[in-house]
Amino acid sequence: MSSKKPLLRALAREALDRPPVWLMRQAGRYLPEYRALRAEVGGFLDMVRDPAAAAEITLQPVRRFGVDAAIVFSDILLPLEAMGMELRFDERGPVLPDPLREARDVEALAPVDPARDLAYVGETLELVKTALPGDTTLIGFCGAPFTLACYAIEGGTSRQFLELRHLMYRESELFGELMDRLARVVADHLRFQVASGAEVVMLFDTWAASLTKEDYARFAEPWTRRVLAELAGVAPRVVFVGGAAHLVEEQLALGVEGVALDHRVDLEQAFLLAGGRTALQGNLDPAVLLATPAEVARRTRALLERVRGRPGHVLGLGHGVLKSTDPDCVAAFVEEARK
Ligand code: CP3
Repeated sequence: MSSKKPLLRALAREALDRPPVWLMRQAGRYLPEYRALRAEVGGFLDMVRDPAAAAEITLQPVRRFGVDAAIVFSDILLPLEAMGMELRFDERGPVLPDPLREARDVEALAPVDPARDLAYVGETLELVKTALPGDTTLIGFCGAPFTLACYAIEGGTSRQFLELRHLMYRESELFGELMDRLARVVADHLRFQVASGAEVVMLFDTWAASLTKEDYARFAEPWTRRVLAELAGVAPRVVFVGGAAHLVEEQLALGVEGVALDHRVDLEQAFLLAGGRTALQGNLDPAVLLATPAEVARRTRALLERVRGRPGHVLGLGHGVLKSTDPDCVAAFVEEARK
């Protein structure tokens, strides 16, 4: 598995003289060049569906900071749109005005052929691939089935996802039918992204941490495992569950190449638990990037000091870059990995 790119080497847990670094949501509204392009092209979805614009945005943080990875500019919710659900983004975030509530809603979902229905994602990946510096890794991604089910059933972001809970507990057969369909689409979409140039695939299960250990094992993990099994040997797989301090063991047991850790997890402890089974990505609190560049550098140094000498560390944040982040603080963060 020896390959030259630092991120691929870290995911293979090779010893490196410095950790590779990239940030979740490294492209976005905190960058003036993103806001400028957005003002030109239109809304978020217009940019995502325009491969030239999406490729340019994907490359913006690579050019500005020299991060070790580019993550394709897209969104986890696009496969739901491809399945026939209306999707909008407003100031509060994503809105799916016709959420799934009963059997006929699930039956009405369309089968997805990513090469046809998500072709723009493939085109974006191909464009980025040709423009990427030789040692930078291209990451494709998708939402995990459980997190997609959260949005499909709730119709948007929610505090407690009670509609989902209702369906999950009371109509578990219907929930299972929906999860089967989502797992199919997620696996197909990830394979399509690899065929289009993605070298690593990342599965975001942002909302799985709302489940207890018991419910995670029953209602989320089986379908996550099904997706991961289809990608085994196809590309290194990285999983992320937001806020999931209580599910770290579960993530480590998935048998993936990398686990991205939330900032509330102790990184050193996680390395002990992982016992060399998997690489770990993370996990500075994204809110720390609201401090001064000097403070960001100090906190990043402290984090790196705690895991120095451990192979398989990818420096990153515990969640996405916040909108009010000063780009100079991202630069200070990246710079520490270079030292
Ligand atoms: O740079 C990157 O990380 C690549 C692109 C990326 C986006 N979304 C772009 C985006 C990635 C990897 C995602 C993943 C995503 N999308 C997740 C999982 C990761 C996480 O944050 O837990 C989730 C839950 C979503 C769904 C989503 N998309 C929400 C809740 C929102 C609104 C919140 C917000 O920050 O605006 C989005 C919109 C979105 N996705 C934006 C971007 C850059 C903001 C678009 C804009 O208004 O310009």
